Amino acid sequence: MLTILEPEQSLFKTEIELIHVEKIIGSGYEEQIAKLAIIDKVAYRAARKNMQINSAIVLKLNGVFSGFFTFQVNHEAKEFCLLQSAMSPGTEDEAIYSQMVQKIIDQNTFGYPMIMTVSTKHDLEKPEVFHALGFQTYLIASGFHYVVYGKLSDVRLKLLAHIAMTNLWKSTTAEWLKIKREWNEKIEEAGKRRGIADPKFATRSGCWQGDQGTANVVLSTKKIIDDKIVSDNSKTLNSNASVLDPAACEIILRMFMPIAGRIVYNPFGGGVQMGFVAGASGFDYVASEIRKNQCDANNAICADFKGVKWIQADSAKFIPDFRADLVFACPPYYKVETYLDYDGRPPDGEINSLTTYDEFRDVLFAGYERAIEAMNDNTFFVVMTGDSRDKSGGYYGCEAEHELFFKRAGLLIYNRIVYLESEFTRRAMAKKTLHHRKFPKAEQKIFAFFKGRASKIKELYPAIGRL
Ligand SMILES: C[S@@+](CC[C@H](N)C(=O)[O-])C[C@H]1O[C@@H](n2cnc3c(N)ncnc32)[C@H](O)[C@@H]1O
Repeated sequence: MLTILEPEQSLFKTEIELIHVEKIIGSGYEEQIAKLAIIDKVAYRAARKNMQINSAIVLKLNGVFSGFFTFQVNHEAKEFCLLQSAMSPGTEDEAIYSQMVQKIIDQNTFGYPMIMTVSTKHDLEKPEVFHALGFQTYLIASGFHYVVYGKLSDVRLKLLAHIAMTNLWKSTTAEWLKIKREWNEKIEEAGKRRGIADPKFATRSGCWQGDQGTANVVLSTKKIIDDKIVSDNSKTLNSNASVLDPAACEIILRMFMPIAGRIVYNPFGGGVQMGFVAGASGFDYVASEIRKNQCDANNAICADFKGVKWIQADSAKFIPDFRADLVFACPPYYKVETYLDYDGRPPDGEINSLTTYDEFRDVLFAGYERAIEAMNDNTFFVVMTGDSRDKSGGYYGCEAEHELFFKRAGLLIYNRIVYLESEFTRRAMAKKTLHHRKFPKAEQKIFAFFKGRASKIKELYPAIGRL
């Protein structure tokens, strides 16, 4: 196809041709594109045979080959990827380059989101050029802007994949913290509207009991008031509960919920975070939680989400009357926190108050067994868990026992993710614990166990597309 555009006033006498080629190979332009790609260096990949199967816009100025922009339409992921671009040395011009981009936009008759990675250091392939044409930046990383022409919601899974790209989830990066802050603001706002104080911690302020675990750093300050030394313990981390990270919740939900999935089940409900994020993402969420005070607070905060509810129940006995498309649990870590109800006591069946670790583990796994029975085939069971130390100083081995339990139950140990927390407080702890050769634990595990045939995952789970 050949398109001849009228010369632009500002480009007096320059005839601009923008030619759309369906495939570079066989178009007659393969060698010119390969040579310019090699000279350009940044666009060098366009010289590769396996990249020349892609489409391109070829630029001719006054009849002379002067540039290209390659692209690929991915119908499977329903997206339009802009790839490499270059203009011949001496012909570089932002206005003409922008016309090449616009010509690619015109090829998108499918309404797919269009994505591109551009660099702040490039003369043409740079954010300003793309922003002027309607692209938006959805991620900035190492000087690169990841831009999209379309809705930001279309690239949400891609954004989450970028911030959690390997099995090391660093919860302290700027992008991660931004997502976490946004969710926490929404939770705070919903709590305020429903009259629930401190919704992040609701019913669990002060439940932290650990003295050898993770966040046990005392930040108390002392002041002299009326000649007396007064301690202010309000900033002591000990007074706070472990709070589930809503950014991790969103990643888990988007990554591990099948395309046709709708219902999340959590056998150890706890805080409001996963239910809130699930509801706001359009999913149903059912949690069994043994404490009535926690159920009441969470149900109030999430009153706007009709399909989200915490049911007061012992998960070892609770039989779901639905099939789950994703199970998620962040269960108690043995003896790290206490979980108290309205009467100031742990309810019967609350596993963290059981006398021995073995009892705790057996009832925990009984809750998992009920949940596994409720899972649809080809779905994930995601557990965020940690380990704690017994009186002799050794770990109970709860993480390892999780893997063995799920393996014996017939699930695949599909992902073993390390959730990395801020090291700051752990470094302070190390000053005490390293003398005993105890390295403070700055991570938790997120296991994703899979029930079914892993070969079905690519087909049944949302496509991530190009990263
Ligand atoms: C560690 S908390 C969840 C922590 C999570 N990180 C959060 O943000 O809430 C685990 C929850 O399990 C609940 N629980 C304990 N035993 C239970 C049982 N047998 N059935 C259901 N829930 C139980 C506790 O009351 C607690 O709220």
